[in-house]
Amino acid sequence: MLTAYLATEKFLPELLAELKNVKSVHGNLVLTDGPLQSSVWAQNIWLDCQISQFESISQAAKQLKDHGKLWCLYSFDHHRRAQLIQENLPRLKDRTLDFLGPLPSVPLGAWTLLEKNSLLYSSQTNSLFPLGEIHFNEDKVTPPSRAYLKLWELFTVYGVKPRAGERVVDFGSCPGGWTWVLQQMGCHVVSIDRADLAPQIAALPRIDFMKTNAFTVKPQDIGDIDWFFSDIICYPDKLLELVEMWQGSGLCKNFVCTIKFQGKTDFETLKKFQEIPGSRVQHLYHNKHEVTVWIRKSSL
Ligand SMILES: C[S@@+](CC[C@H](N)C(=O)[O-])C[C@H]1O[C@@H](n2cnc3c(N)ncnc32)[C@H](O)[C@@H]1O
Repeated sequence: MLTAYLATEKFLPELLAELKNVKSVHGNLVLTDGPLQSSVWAQNIWLDCQISQFESISQAAKQLKDHGKLWCLYSFDHHRRAQLIQENLPRLKDRTLDFLGPLPSVPLGAWTLLEKNSLLYSSQTNSLFPLGEIHFNEDKVTPPSRAYLKLWELFTVYGVKPRAGERVVDFGSCPGGWTWVLQQMGCHVVSIDRADLAPQIAALPRIDFMKTNAFTVKPQDIGDIDWFFSDIICYPDKLLELVEMWQGSGLCKNFVCTIKFQGKTDFETLKKFQEIPGSRVQHLYHNKHEVTVWIRKSSL
């Protein structure tokens, strides 16, 4: 079975490092054969890919229409010709999301031109968003940083989210984008950073701010919490130690952390996070040179 994995511009080396059975690379699209692989770095996965030859633009469009309803183009070469084919396919409606709003229901196919007369296509991709690109109707007024989009994506697209009334801790919270999202969800937020929160966030109800070094806070100082959030800028192995300490305390049920890389990607520590039971590690669309890990307590 042929499967194609699309990396975002900067993370092709990371994607290539994790994939096996690579047949060929086309721009940022990596074609593999063999069984489907889980991937941290793929922004979009094209399942059961087909390759076909065609003579004319209309014939290429017909071949695609015969195999699916909605198609997204990934263009790495022959851009003009690819665009002409795409113009002969049904137009995609805008899929910009509202925070916690409904997800689109119609799946998307994806295709590219491998050569002038050769199509690679999949009528079934793993994302409801064109080439895995997720855009929100953003709030450009209230949140003090754009980091909030990472939580919006996780909560809306992956459905991993706390409930109103739950008690959460937000490490590395300044200037307050995540604390704002969690407070808006109805959570009680223990917000911790060495720097201050933006004043409009600090003034909100249900937020207890602690100005301190996250690594000196002991779980017993905070007590029972439902969710541990961390967007701290630190080395991955330090974050792993912090998570392990909190897991060991038994005082926290769920974890959501950004693992940030400085310079080279630390694959070794990333693997250790993947080995934690119940964990999932994913490069979200809104992640930069970092990935998001979430660990759910299995009984939930
Ligand atoms: C990327 S910012 C967090 C952005 C935040 N999540 C938001 O939505 O606005 C990283 C934060 O980690 C904090 N930080 C780094 N090391 C820390 C430490 N040892 N203890 C507490 N905070 C730390 C920095 O002060 C910085 O505010």
